[in-house]
Amino acid sequence: MAIIALQALVACSAFGSAAALSLWSSKPATHAYRASDDYLLKTAYPVGNGKLGGEYHRGTSATIPHGPPGLDKAVLSIDSLWSGGPFQSSAYNGGNPETDIHSSLSEIRARIFDNGTGSVEPLLGTGESYGAYRTLGNLTVSIDGVGEYADYKRSLDLKTGIHTTTYSVAGAELTTSVFCSYPDHVCVYHVSTTSKTLLPELTLGFENNLVDKDLLDVTCGDDHVRLQGVTQAGPPEGLKYDSIARVARDSRAATTRCSEDGATLSISAPRGQKAVTIVVGAGTNFDQTKGNAEHDYSFKGPDPEAYVNKVTSAAASKSYEHLLRAHLRDYQALESAFSLNLPDPNGSADKETADLISAYTADRSTGDPFVEALLFDYSRHLLISSSRPGSLPANLQGRWTEELNPAWSADYHANINLQMNYWAADQTGLGSTQDALWDYMELNWVPRGSETARLLYDANGWVVHNEMNIFGYTAMKEGASWANYPAAPAWMMQHVWDNFEYTQDSAWFRHQGYPLIKGVAEFWLSQLQEDAFSGDGSLVVNPCNSPEHGPTTFGCAHYQQEIHRTFDAILAGAPYAREKDEDFLDRVSAALEKLDKGFGVTEWGGVKEWKLPDSHGYDVKSDHRHLSHLTGWYPGYSLSSYLDGYSTNTTIQSAVRATLVSRGPGNAPDGNPGWAKVWRAAAWARLNDTERAHWHLRYAVEQNFAGNGLSMYSGRDEPFQIDANFGFAGAVLSMLVVDLPLPHKALAGGKGDPKRTVVLGPAIPEAWAGGSVEGLRIRGGGVVDFSWDADGVVTEARVKRSRAKVRIVNVKGEMLAES
Ligand SMILES: *[C@@H]1O[C@H](CO)[C@@H](O)[C@H](O)[C@H]1NC(C)=O
Ligand SMILES: *[C@@H]1O[C@H](CO)[C@@H](O)[C@H](O)[C@H]1NC(C)=O
Ligand SMILES: *[C@@H]1O[C@H](CO)[C@@H](O)[C@H](O)[C@H]1NC(C)=O
Ligand SMILES: *[C@@H]1O[C@H](CO)[C@@H](O)[C@H](O)[C@H]1NC(C)=O
Ligand SMILES: *[C@@H]1O[C@H](CO)[C@@H](O)[C@H](O)[C@H]1NC(C)=O
Repeated sequence: MAIIALQALVACSAFGSAAALSLWSSKPATHAYRASDDYLLKTAYPVGNGKLGGEYHRGTSATIPHGPPGLDKAVLSIDSLWSGGPFQSSAYNGGNPETDIHSSLSEIRARIFDNGTGSVEPLLGTGESYGAYRTLGNLTVSIDGVGEYADYKRSLDLKTGIHTTTYSVAGAELTTSVFCSYPDHVCVYHVSTTSKTLLPELTLGFENNLVDKDLLDVTCGDDHVRLQGVTQAGPPEGLKYDSIARVARDSRAATTRCSEDGATLSISAPRGQKAVTIVVGAGTNFDQTKGNAEHDYSFKGPDPEAYVNKVTSAAASKSYEHLLRAHLRDYQALESAFSLNLPDPNGSADKETADLISAYTADRSTGDPFVEALLFDYSRHLLISSSRPGSLPANLQGRWTEELNPAWSADYHANINLQMNYWAADQTGLGSTQDALWDYMELNWVPRGSETARLLYDANGWVVHNEMNIFGYTAMKEGASWANYPAAPAWMMQHVWDNFEYTQDSAWFRHQGYPLIKGVAEFWLSQLQEDAFSGDGSLVVNPCNSPEHGPTTFGCAHYQQEIHRTFDAILAGAPYAREKDEDFLDRVSAALEKLDKGFGVTEWGGVKEWKLPDSHGYDVKSDHRHLSHLTGWYPGYSLSSYLDGYSTNTTIQSAVRATLVSRGPGNAPDGNPGWAKVWRAAAWARLNDTERAHWHLRYAVEQNFAGNGLSMYSGRDEPFQIDANFGFAGAVLSMLVVDLPLPHKALAGGKGDPKRTVVLGPAIPEAWAGGSVEGLRIRGGGVVDFSWDADGVVTEARVKRSRAKVRIVNVKGEMLAES
C-alpha cells in the first residue's frame, strides 16, 4: 500500500516534461575516513529541510543516509548546533576589544599614504571562543535478518528531494525512503516491504562516538528514542540540543519495546503491516533573536525539550502519505519554479552517477550535458535543502557535516564563499531561500557589528569582516589578508539589492533590505579618505587588503567597486524605501561623485588590484585563486554595467580578459578549489566567450566534483566545501543570460525608466544544442522562457511576465522579444 501510494504521488506531481534529474548508485554509501574514496561526503546523497521548525533555529535540518543494508545510519545536523560563543565563555563578545582602539587608525592611515603599504596589526583579533559547526550524531536503524541482499539501488530524486534505497532479501523487496519536511519540521524515515510475510524487526537508536559520554544521554520511551546533549559541562553551560526519533501513527499497530539498557527501541510490525514510518525532530536552545544588547548577546532561547516533543508528536500523529504530500507540495513549489533542459545524447541517465563523474574530463569538448544539467539541478536541491525562512543561511558545508571540527569551522566566509552560495537564488525562483540570509545579517551581524564599527573604526552603521560564526563574531580574526576585510557587508549588499530588483517586493525592501544597505553606506561614508598618496582628490579606502593575498594598502579595487555599487543601490533604492533623509542622500551622492571607482589598467594590460603604482611590484601577473578585483565585472556590475555602459567599453573588456588569462584555471599551488573554477567560468561567460566559459565549467567538474556530485576543496580530495556546488549553477546562469541593472543616474524611480537590454545565451555551447529554459527570472519582476538552436544561439524567447521595460536579444544582438 505505502509503496504504491508513494509512487502515485510522485508520478502525478511531476511538472510538465521538464523534470529534474536523479543521482543514483548500485553501491551503498559508506562512512570511511576522510582521505578515502569511500569517504561519506564523497559517496552519500544529502537531503534536508534547511530549517528547524516554526521558532528560531530548532528542529532537524539535514541528514545523510548511508550504511550497508540492514545497518542503516543517517548523519543528522541542526543548523544551530555550534560550539563556541557565549555558551563556551562568558567573556565572549564577538571578538571585539574591551575598549575602543580606533585611535590607531590615523597612524595606520598616515603610514600607508606615506609609504604605499603598511600594517593593521593593532586592529587584528584572535578568534577566541569562535567555535565550530558540528554534527548532531547518527540515527541508527538496524533491520533484522538482512544478510545477503541483491539488486541494490539508492537514488536521490531531485524533483522530489526524496532519497530512496531498494534491495531484495529472500525474495522480498525492501525500500527505505528518506526526506526532510519543511512544513512538518522533521525528517521522515520510511521502510516498507513487498513481502507477503513479515516486515523484519527494526531497532532504532542514536549514537555520537565523537563527544564525551558525560555530555550525552541516549534514552528510549514507549514509541521513541531520544538523544540529549550539551556542548560543554560549564560554566558557562554549553549549548543544549535534543533529538527524538518517534514511530508514526501508521505504524502504531507495531509492537515497540524499549531495550534493557534503555537506549534502543525495537519495532515489530504485525503480519500484514508492510511499512513503518519514523519521524525525527531536533532542536537546540540557540535563539538568534537574542543576539543583541537588550538580551546581553546571550543567543539563548528556551530549552529545546518541549519543542522537540511537540513537533515529533505532531508529525507522528500523521500518516506517511500525509507527511509525504505536504513535503511534495512544499518542495516542488520551489523546485518547479525553474527548469534547465539539456540534451542527453549518450544516454547518461542510465549510467551510475559516480561513473559518469569519474569518466568526465575537461578535454572532451562536448562535456556531458547530462552531467552539467544534473549538477545544476543538484545545486538547486542543495539550496532548497539548506536555507529556508527561519533557518540559518547555508554555511561552508551547506548543512552537512559528520564531524565535530569541520574544515574552517564550516562557518560563513564572506569574501566569496557565502556570496557564491546564493548566486543562483534570485534568477531561478529560489529568492525565498535568502530570507535566512537577510535575518542572519540583521539579527546576527548588525547588533555586534555596530559595536565593532564604533570600537575599531569610530564609524556609524555596521561592519563585519571575513569569517563569521552564529554568535555575532564581527571583529577581525587573525592574519591581515584574511581578517582585514571590512568590505564583506558591501559585497553582501549586492544580494539585498538584487533581491529587490528580482522580486520588486518594496514592503520587504523598506523594512529590511534598505536599512541593511543604509547601515553599510553610513559605515563607508565615515571611512573613505581623500587619496593622499596619489593626490588626485578621489575618495579611497585606507587601510584595505584584497582577499587572501597582497599588501595592506589603500584603494583596493575590489572595495572601491563594491562601495560604488552600494552607494548606487542607495540612490536607486531611496524612492522605493521612501527615504526622507535628504542630507544622507546628498552625502552619498557627493561621495559617489568623488569615489575612486576601482578600475585601472596594469602595465601588462590587466585590471589593477591595488591603486598603488605598478612600480611597487604588487600588480604583477598572478594565478591566485581569488578574482576579487573583477567582482565589479561578475558577479557584480559596477564595471560591467555602471562604468562599461553595457559591455561597450573595450578598454575594460580587454583588461578583464587579460586578468582572466593570467589568473589561469584556478589550480595554482596556493589551492585547487572548485569555487575558483566556476567563478572563472562565470566571468568568461560575461565576455561572451563560450569556449572558455564551458572549458572552465568542465574543468571544475573534472578536478573537484566527487562521485556523489559534491564539490571538494583540494582537487577531488576532502574537505567537502559546498560553494562550488552553488557556484556551478551561477556559472551556468552566467552562460545563459546577462541581465545587468542600469546605474541610478539612468533611472527615474520606476515610471519613465529607460528600456534595459537583456542578453539571452551569451555563452551557450553547441553541446547543449536544442536545449531550453523555463522560468528564468529577470530584473523588474519578469519571467522568461527561451530555447536555442544547434549553434547555441537563442532563437525563441517568451516573456511570461514583466513589469519592467526590457528588450530581449540574443548574442548576435537580434531582437527576440520586448515588453
Ligand atoms: C613601505 O613600502 C614597502 C614597499 O611596498 C614595504 O616593503 C615596506 O614594508 C613598507 N614600510 C612600512 C613601514 O610599512
Ligand atoms: C556515524 O557512523 C559512522 C559509521 O559507522 C561512524 O564512523 C561515525 O563515527 C558515527 N558518527 C558519530 C558522530 O558517532
Ligand atoms: C557521446 O557520444 C559522442 C558520439 O559518439 C561522442 O563524441 C562523445 O564524446 C560522447 N560523450 C560522452 C560524454 O560520452
Ligand atoms: C572605458 O572606461 C574607462 C574607465 O571608466 C574610461 O576611462 C574610458 O574612457 C572608457 N572608454 C570609452 C570608449 O568609453
Ligand atoms: C555580448 O553580446 C551582446 C549581444 O550581442 C553585446 O551587446 C555585448 O556587447 C557582448 N559583450 C561582450 C563583452 O562582447
